[in-house]
Amino acid sequence: MKHSPHYPMKSTEGMVDYDRNSAAQQQIVNTQSARIRELVECLSPAGPEVTVVDYGCGPGSSAVEAVRPSIEVCRARFPDLPVSVVHADQPGNDWNALFELVYGTTGYQGEAGGIRTSAAVGTFYGQMVPANSVDMATCFAASHWLSRAVDVHLPGSIWFADAAGEARAQLWDQARQDWVAFLSRRADELRSGGHLLVATLGSVPEDDEINGTAASGRGIYRAIQVVAQSMADDGLIDAAILDNFVFALWFMTEIEARRPLEDDAVLSEAFDILEISVAPAPGNYRDVFGAFAGDPDEYAKRYRGYIRAFADSTLRKQLLEPSAKDAKDADKLADEFFDRLEELYRTETSKYAFELWHLLVVLKKT
Ligand SMILES: C[S@@+](CC[C@H](N)C(=O)[O-])C[C@H]1O[C@@H](n2cnc3c(N)ncnc32)[C@H](O)[C@@H]1O
Repeated sequence: MKHSPHYPMKSTEGMVDYDRNSAAQQQIVNTQSARIRELVECLSPAGPEVTVVDYGCGPGSSAVEAVRPSIEVCRARFPDLPVSVVHADQPGNDWNALFELVYGTTGYQGEAGGIRTSAAVGTFYGQMVPANSVDMATCFAASHWLSRAVDVHLPGSIWFADAAGEARAQLWDQARQDWVAFLSRRADELRSGGHLLVATLGSVPEDDEINGTAASGRGIYRAIQVVAQSMADDGLIDAAILDNFVFALWFMTEIEARRPLEDDAVLSEAFDILEISVAPAPGNYRDVFGAFAGDPDEYAKRYRGYIRAFADSTLRKQLLEPSAKDAKDADKLADEFFDRLEELYRTETSKYAFELWHLLVVLKKT
């Protein structure tokens, strides 16, 4: 099953049990809470309300934590201005789960009046909210998903960082265009003086790695490749489909993220760069679940849960369903896939550890 090139690949829709399995995403959000406060402290909103938008918000508590620092500072600094909080994501996001959290006991709606919650539904590669309306914009663990699946022939790997030659050029071309589109639309939507904070997975230079770059999650994607190949070898999935399947994502290096903001005439005028960096994630950045490595069963369960939460829908739509007879067969293949993945982590433990570098981009609209 192919995706329409004109409709964003809804690769992260239907994320499985997201809230329980999104520790790494929650960590990215929490790490930036003080920075968001600082940025909102510097705002001089023109009114009639202060607008906070979280792009690619997802369905979980990280969507609440992403906007909480902005709300708290706005309530303290601009008590007379209502706060408009916009959660922006694709149509298939689990909006019910999100709004239950927003209005639940740990949500921000219980705290104080004067906060208007709404959803913006669509793609962040296009316009999501009115022009010149946003004071504080955030985007966590989302902007690395490309706008569409890329048709590449890449036998032996399912991920961008192991691609070389023409396949790599094709993937980077899409990633670069998408990053420019993302920034351009935010440049339209932000008010002058407003801030954009993007935090997601990044890559760092490493001489002896393929392409001279170590990308976050390389162990995870290589584990997925091993399992997918074993299923193709056993005749469970179509080998030709696997050779043409690649996750539609790109984790940028600092230079890749920075280049259009310095070289593109419109973007360099639109934004002042406050920070662009890629740094090891706090904690055990060489193995996000390293604390469980002494207990292989628990370690393997953590990896299964984490990987299934973000990868299940992409794998189903692009790899398993096209190899399956019907929906029931696709369910069986998905279970088989994640059983094998869990077994791989149980037997190999840290060989496929999740390494994590955070890319942080902080911009001010001129
Ligand atoms: C891994 S989740 C991160 C959710 C949340 N921001 C967090 O940090 O936990 C990625 C989110 O990005 C959204 N997303 C991916 N591509 C998108 C696009 N083109 N436009 C809007 N949202 C997108 C997905 O639907 C998903 O909810």
